[in-house]
Amino acid sequence: MKRLFCLTIALLPFIAAAQIPPASSPAWTEIAPGVWKATIGTTENFTLLSAAGACVTKAGREALAAMPQLSFPIDPKEIEGRQWAAKTSVRFPLGGSEDIYGLGVDFSSMRRNGGVFELHVDHWDSKKAITGRTHAPVPLYVSTKGFAVLFDSARYLRVTVGHGVRLAAKDKPPVIDRTTGKGWQANPRSDSIEVLAGAAGMDVYVFAGPSPLDAIRRYNLFSGGGALPPKWGLGFLSRVQTKYTAEQALADIAEFRKNEIPLDMLGLEPGWMDQAYPCSFEWDKTRFPDPKQFLAEVAQQHVRVNLWFNPYVAPNTPLYGKILPYAGTHLVWGGIVPDYSLPAAQKIFTNHLKRTVVDLNPDAVGGFKLDEVDGYDRYLWPDVAVFPSGRDAEQLRQTYGLLLQRAVFDTFHQSNHRTMGQVRGTNAGASPFPFVIYNDNYEFDGYITAVSNSGFAGVLWSPEVRGSNSGEDMLRRTQAVCFSPLALYNGWASPQKLWTHAEVTPQIRDAIVLRERLLPYFYNAFAQYHYQGTPVIRPMQLASSVTAAESTEAGKLDATANPYEVPAAAREVKDQYMFGDALLVAPIAPNVKSRKVLLPAGKWYDFYTGKLAGENQTIEVTPSLSEMPVFVKDGALIPMLAEKRQWVPVASETAALEIRHYGQAPGKLALYDDDGETFDYEKGDYSWTQLTVAKNGRGEWSGVVTPDVNGRKWHYSEVKWTFLAAQ
Ligand code: GAL
Repeated sequence: MKRLFCLTIALLPFIAAAQIPPASSPAWTEIAPGVWKATIGTTENFTLLSAAGACVTKAGREALAAMPQLSFPIDPKEIEGRQWAAKTSVRFPLGGSEDIYGLGVDFSSMRRNGGVFELHVDHWDSKKAITGRTHAPVPLYVSTKGFAVLFDSARYLRVTVGHGVRLAAKDKPPVIDRTTGKGWQANPRSDSIEVLAGAAGMDVYVFAGPSPLDAIRRYNLFSGGGALPPKWGLGFLSRVQTKYTAEQALADIAEFRKNEIPLDMLGLEPGWMDQAYPCSFEWDKTRFPDPKQFLAEVAQQHVRVNLWFNPYVAPNTPLYGKILPYAGTHLVWGGIVPDYSLPAAQKIFTNHLKRTVVDLNPDAVGGFKLDEVDGYDRYLWPDVAVFPSGRDAEQLRQTYGLLLQRAVFDTFHQSNHRTMGQVRGTNAGASPFPFVIYNDNYEFDGYITAVSNSGFAGVLWSPEVRGSNSGEDMLRRTQAVCFSPLALYNGWASPQKLWTHAEVTPQIRDAIVLRERLLPYFYNAFAQYHYQGTPVIRPMQLASSVTAAESTEAGKLDATANPYEVPAAAREVKDQYMFGDALLVAPIAPNVKSRKVLLPAGKWYDFYTGKLAGENQTIEVTPSLSEMPVFVKDGALIPMLAEKRQWVPVASETAALEIRHYGQAPGKLALYDDDGETFDYEKGDYSWTQLTVAKNGRGEWSGVVTPDVNGRKWHYSEVKWTFLAAQ
């Protein structure tokens, strides 16, 4: 007995060493221009990209091919994959001066170095502070070395950025005796980014740059191109109180018109159904006795209806029996949780939505708000749940929002009507979906940081305005939503209206009127997202990096260079962002009188006055109540609707354009247009018109419009030029 024990102990070191599963260097294959894929272990048959149906389009492939041809941007010997039991890990190198961004929509910070993340779809809650649990925990990171990496697994992922020093590391931090030495650190810096998935395998993608922005462009194009919402989806959305009747909803539209506050979308909250939480997916006949008539009246007002739902189906409803065979093992609020990873379940569900809602009036029903697909853990199905497809709770949790966006989007696509929706949980591969994430918290600063981070994640995020005790609060929040991907008032739980605080109604009106007038600019930013993959919202780290890159030869990467290093002053800027190419948006929080704004290199001009604001410096601004700080790049052309509008122009209309030119540099803009309502652009029914501004022989600014020779759609009757440099 004793002898055997001794023998076992003696063998232990040997056994332990032999048991470490070997790491291997993944084999990379270039699967699209500047996009490489490697598989570690055996990939599961259900991943984030497969759930989203992500697929590069023909136009996307052409856009990728037009980008610089680059070789694999990382030393492949520095990348390691390891697979053992039901786990897979991947290690990427992390250079000393390399900054890491991304890893999903985070509300608290931008830079990821030094963090440990649990990427898990959940309702963001700052009090909980489990980093990585968020509405869009997209496992995509972006490096200032000019590339991005995606871990395509539908598992909860653990990611460490610069933590956990490896025995095999070349440059290990010094070992210091904590008792007597100086500089001992609790978290010595590691040279790695490491990811762990509870799966027998995982696909990993690397997107080349040359710049970090280009790497994100490749990711968005590879996912199918960015979303192109309908024009009306970029107007204004107001959501009514939960228990509103058809009559009250119509009266609300009339009030908008009377107050001359633009309105394009009306959101119905749970009360449109006769049962919610779980949902019946049937109209409530007391509140909406004649839904068809209601929708017709809304359409007459040039407004689209957006209907709330959560996907949990109530017993004793017509949908219940049909979808029951696809239910998972657990209930949410007593409703079944359909396995929407099965196409048959998606079809039953969307057919029902079509029959009960969309087909009543396809011109009036603009989309849905897909609620409660994110969390919390205590609300949704537990991790022990399993589903008829054989997939489990974790896989469905990471993809439920993606699956529903895809199902709803496909339904609208099939009927050639575009949609604009909202969703509370999403993930990788969502770039093509015109759904904007939202949240129940109401922290202004966190909302703005989330807008910024959305640009690193291939998703759209919008703050909200709700009822408020103060006019200033409502106004500042309205101004902020008007410069975000979706401008909305969410009145589901408040009797207040946007005109409740009469003292600020004129300024609220001005903010929304400006939103509508800027439609051509915003729509162009979305067209760039769709066709070139360029995110509509660009965090400052992307804007500033361009400046830094100019000093280095673009595209020349080696193991130590960090050509897109973000200047220290911009590394953690999280309260301002670029909307499109030219507008720098610096929202001002309610009750704050002044704020700092970082103006990157190049001259920047005040959006409202055209006056020079500064260059390559941080300025302090004290805006009046009527304006939120917005700055314009030197030489930028900002296309706007020339006239005030109460709703955006419809497909059959033409409208006059005003093109504003800012600054002293000549200007150039390719302005996109199509019908703004259907998917005919997929058949080439669009145009890119070239606008240029330069000084003529007499030293005066003048503008030229060069129509697209092949262009088939252009909805602007005339162009009026405004040269703000002259002022
Ligand atoms: C919440 C959602 C709110 C509102 C509400 C209705 O889950 O975040 O915006 O729609 O449900 O009950």
